[in-house]
Amino acid sequence: MWEKIVREIKECKKCRLHKYRKNPVPGEGSLNAKIMFIGEAPGAKEDEQGRPFVGAAGKLLTTLLESIGLKRENVFITNVVKCRPPHNRDPLDDEISACLPYLVEQINIIKPRIIVTLGRISTKTIFQLGGLVFKSMSKDRGVIREAKIGEVEVKILPTYHPAAALYNPKLRSKIESDFKALAKIYKSIEEGSKRKYTLLDFLREN
Ligand code: URA
Ligand code: SF4
Repeated sequence: MWEKIVREIKECKKCRLHKYRKNPVPGEGSLNAKIMFIGEAPGAKEDEQGRPFVGAAGKLLTTLLESIGLKRENVFITNVVKCRPPHNRDPLDDEISACLPYLVEQINIIKPRIIVTLGRISTKTIFQLGGLVFKSMSKDRGVIREAKIGEVEVKILPTYHPAAALYNPKLRSKIESDFKALAKIYKSIEEGSKRKYTLLDFLREN
Protein backbone atom coordinates (compact mmCIF):
# COMPACT_ATOMS: atom_id res chain seq x y z
CA MET A 1 0.00 0.00 0.00
CA TRP A 2 2.78 2.41 0.95
CA GLU A 3 4.96 1.48 -2.01
CA LYS A 4 2.00 2.04 -4.30
CA ILE A 5 1.42 5.59 -3.13
CA VAL A 6 5.14 6.43 -3.40
CA ARG A 7 5.17 5.05 -6.92
CA GLU A 8 2.09 7.08 -7.83
CA ILE A 9 3.65 10.28 -6.49
CA LYS A 10 6.87 9.63 -8.41
CA GLU A 11 4.95 9.27 -11.66
CA CYS A 12 2.30 11.91 -10.90
CA LYS A 13 1.37 14.56 -13.45
CA LYS A 14 -1.91 15.63 -11.88
CA CYS A 15 -0.86 19.27 -11.61
CA ARG A 16 1.52 21.65 -13.37
CA LEU A 17 4.18 21.30 -10.65
CA HIS A 18 5.37 18.05 -12.22
CA LYS A 19 6.86 20.13 -15.05
CA TYR A 20 9.33 21.91 -12.78
CA ARG A 21 10.40 19.23 -10.36
CA LYS A 22 13.69 17.36 -10.33
CA ASN A 23 12.37 14.92 -7.76
CA PRO A 24 8.98 14.57 -6.10
CA VAL A 25 9.17 14.45 -2.29
CA PRO A 26 6.68 11.91 -0.90
CA GLY A 27 7.89 12.24 2.69
CA GLU A 28 9.88 10.07 5.07
CA GLY A 29 10.00 8.63 8.55
CA SER A 30 8.31 5.85 10.47
CA LEU A 31 5.10 4.37 9.08
CA ASN A 32 4.18 3.68 12.73
CA ALA A 33 4.79 7.28 13.76
CA LYS A 34 2.45 8.79 16.33
CA ILE A 35 3.41 12.29 15.22
CA MET A 36 3.22 13.57 11.66
CA PHE A 37 4.72 16.90 10.59
CA ILE A 38 3.20 18.56 7.56
CA GLY A 39 5.02 21.40 5.82
CA GLU A 40 4.02 23.34 2.77
CA ALA A 41 6.03 22.23 -0.26
CA PRO A 42 9.55 21.06 -1.09
CA GLY A 43 12.21 23.75 -1.56
CA ALA A 44 15.36 23.63 -3.69
CA LYS A 45 17.35 21.21 -1.51
CA GLU A 46 14.35 18.95 -1.05
CA ASP A 47 13.74 18.93 -4.81
CA GLU A 48 17.37 17.96 -5.41
CA GLN A 49 17.38 15.15 -2.87
CA GLY A 50 13.76 13.95 -3.02
CA ARG A 51 13.62 14.24 0.78
CA PRO A 52 11.55 16.60 2.97
CA PHE A 53 13.04 19.31 5.19
CA VAL A 54 16.72 18.82 4.38
CA GLY A 55 17.61 22.52 3.90
CA ALA A 56 18.01 25.28 6.48
CA ALA A 57 14.40 25.04 7.72
CA GLY A 58 14.86 21.29 7.96
CA LYS A 59 17.92 21.73 10.13
CA LEU A 60 15.86 23.78 12.57
CA LEU A 61 13.06 21.21 12.49
CA THR A 62 15.59 18.46 13.29
CA THR A 63 17.02 20.52 16.17
CA LEU A 64 13.53 21.20 17.56
CA LEU A 65 12.73 17.48 17.41
CA GLU A 66 15.95 16.61 19.20
CA SER A 67 15.23 19.24 21.86
CA ILE A 68 12.24 17.13 22.95
CA GLY A 69 14.04 13.82 22.64
CA LEU A 70 12.76 12.77 19.22
CA LYS A 71 14.61 11.79 16.07
CA ARG A 72 13.46 12.34 12.52
CA GLU A 73 13.11 8.59 12.07
CA ASN A 74 10.65 8.37 15.02
CA VAL A 75 8.14 10.69 13.32
CA PHE A 76 6.81 11.14 9.80
CA ILE A 77 7.61 14.29 7.83
CA THR A 78 5.85 15.36 4.65
CA ASN A 79 4.31 18.35 2.85
CA VAL A 80 0.94 19.45 1.54
CA VAL A 81 2.23 19.31 -2.05
CA LYS A 82 4.88 16.83 -3.07
CA CYS A 83 6.58 18.81 -5.87
CA ARG A 84 8.48 22.09 -5.62
CA PRO A 85 6.66 25.19 -6.87
CA PRO A 86 8.83 27.34 -9.18
CA HIS A 87 10.90 29.95 -7.32
CA ASN A 88 9.41 28.61 -4.07
CA ARG A 89 6.14 30.43 -4.66
CA ASP A 90 3.15 29.35 -2.55
CA PRO A 91 1.35 26.32 -3.95
CA LEU A 92 -1.89 27.37 -5.70
CA ASP A 93 -5.32 26.13 -4.64
CA ASP A 94 -5.72 23.83 -7.64
CA GLU A 95 -2.27 22.31 -7.02
CA ILE A 96 -3.16 21.70 -3.37
CA SER A 97 -6.49 20.08 -4.36
CA ALA A 98 -4.77 17.87 -6.93
CA CYS A 99 -2.18 16.68 -4.43
CA LEU A 100 -4.39 16.34 -1.34
CA PRO A 101 -5.59 12.75 -1.94
CA TYR A 102 -1.96 11.62 -1.41
CA LEU A 103 -1.77 13.35 1.95
CA VAL A 104 -5.12 11.94 3.09
CA GLU A 105 -4.00 8.47 2.00
CA GLN A 106 -0.73 8.92 3.91
CA ILE A 107 -2.68 9.91 7.03
CA ASN A 108 -4.96 6.88 6.62
CA ILE A 109 -1.94 4.57 6.36
CA ILE A 110 0.16 6.06 9.17
CA LYS A 111 -2.76 6.86 11.49
CA PRO A 112 -0.87 9.45 13.54
CA ARG A 113 -2.24 10.54 16.91
CA ILE A 114 -0.91 14.07 16.49
CA ILE A 115 -0.49 16.15 13.35
CA VAL A 116 1.79 19.18 13.65
CA THR A 117 1.04 21.67 10.89
CA LEU A 118 3.97 23.90 9.95
CA GLY A 119 2.85 27.32 8.77
CA ARG A 120 -0.28 28.89 7.36
CA ILE A 121 -0.81 26.83 4.22
CA SER A 122 -0.46 23.54 6.00
CA THR A 123 -2.64 24.65 8.91
CA LYS A 124 -5.38 25.99 6.61
CA THR A 125 -5.36 22.82 4.54
CA ILE A 126 -5.50 20.44 7.49
CA PHE A 127 -8.16 22.52 9.26
CA GLN A 128 -10.27 22.38 6.11
CA LEU A 129 -9.89 18.60 5.93
CA GLY A 130 -10.92 18.33 9.58
CA GLY A 131 -13.86 20.73 9.27
CA LEU A 132 -12.21 23.34 11.51
CA VAL A 133 -12.22 27.09 10.93
CA PHE A 134 -8.78 28.63 10.46
CA LYS A 135 -8.50 32.17 11.84
CA SER A 136 -4.84 33.17 11.70
CA MET A 137 -1.49 31.73 12.69
CA SER A 138 -1.19 34.06 15.68
CA LYS A 139 -4.61 32.93 16.98
CA ASP A 140 -4.41 29.24 16.08
CA ARG A 141 -0.79 28.31 16.74
CA GLY A 142 -0.07 26.40 19.91
CA VAL A 143 -3.76 25.59 20.41
CA ILE A 144 -4.49 21.88 20.22
CA ARG A 145 -7.62 20.83 18.35
CA GLU A 146 -9.27 17.50 17.68
CA ALA A 147 -10.66 16.42 14.34
CA LYS A 148 -11.28 13.48 12.07
CA ILE A 149 -9.12 13.47 8.98
CA GLY A 150 -9.76 10.73 6.47
CA GLU A 151 -10.63 7.83 8.78
CA VAL A 152 -8.38 8.99 11.60
CA GLU A 153 -9.20 10.83 14.86
CA VAL A 154 -6.24 13.10 15.51
CA LYS A 155 -5.05 15.96 17.61
CA ILE A 156 -3.81 18.89 15.54
CA LEU A 157 -1.13 21.25 16.79
CA PRO A 158 -0.44 24.20 14.49
CA THR A 159 2.85 26.00 14.76
CA TYR A 160 4.83 28.46 12.68
CA HIS A 161 6.84 27.28 9.72
CA PRO A 162 10.48 26.76 10.78
CA ALA A 163 11.64 28.83 7.77
CA ALA A 164 9.77 31.83 9.22
CA ALA A 165 11.50 31.33 12.56
CA LEU A 166 15.02 31.14 11.11
CA TYR A 167 15.58 34.88 11.24
CA ASN A 168 12.88 35.85 13.72
CA PRO A 169 13.75 35.14 17.37
CA LYS A 170 10.20 35.92 18.55
CA LEU A 171 8.69 33.28 16.29
CA ARG A 172 11.46 30.91 17.21
CA SER A 173 10.65 31.11 20.91
CA LYS A 174 6.97 30.49 20.09
CA ILE A 175 7.84 27.40 18.03
CA GLU A 176 10.01 26.22 20.91
CA SER A 177 7.11 26.63 23.30
CA ASP A 178 4.82 24.74 20.88
CA PHE A 179 7.33 21.88 20.79
CA LYS A 180 7.25 21.77 24.58
CA ALA A 181 3.46 21.42 24.35
CA LEU A 182 3.99 18.69 21.76
CA ALA A 183 6.29 16.82 24.15
CA LYS A 184 3.57 16.99 26.81
CA ILE A 185 0.84 15.64 24.54
CA TYR A 186 3.13 12.94 23.20
CA LYS A 187 3.97 11.85 26.73
CA SER A 188 0.29 11.75 27.66
CA ILE A 189 -0.41 9.55 24.64
CA GLU A 190 2.48 7.25 25.49
CA GLU A 191 1.13 6.94 29.04
CA GLY A 192 -2.09 5.73 27.44
CA SER A 193 -5.24 5.42 29.47
CA LYS A 194 -3.68 5.83 32.92
CA ARG A 195 -5.15 9.29 33.03
CA LYS A 196 -7.83 10.97 30.99
CA TYR A 197 -6.46 14.18 29.51
CA THR A 198 -8.55 16.96 28.14
CA LEU A 199 -7.50 19.74 25.82
CA LEU A 200 -7.45 22.03 28.88
CA ASP A 201 -4.33 20.19 29.99
CA PHE A 202 -2.52 21.62 27.00
CA LEU A 203 -3.36 25.31 27.04
CA ARG A 204 -0.66 27.35 25.43
CA GLU A 205 1.57 29.38 27.68
CA ASN A 206 2.59 32.27 25.41
N1 URA B 1 9.72 23.91 3.56
C1 URA B 1 8.66 23.08 3.53
O1 URA B 1 7.53 23.49 3.74
N2 URA B 1 8.88 21.79 3.28
C2 URA B 1 10.09 21.28 3.06
O2 URA B 1 10.18 20.08 2.83
C3 URA B 1 11.19 22.17 3.10
C4 URA B 1 10.99 23.48 3.35
FE1 SF4 C 1 1.20 15.28 -8.53
FE2 SF4 C 1 1.23 16.55 -6.20
FE3 SF4 C 1 3.36 16.67 -7.79
FE4 SF4 C 1 1.12 17.95 -8.44
S1 SF4 C 1 2.42 18.37 -6.64
S2 SF4 C 1 2.36 16.69 -9.81
S3 SF4 C 1 -0.44 16.56 -7.69
S4 SF4 C 1 2.56 14.83 -6.79
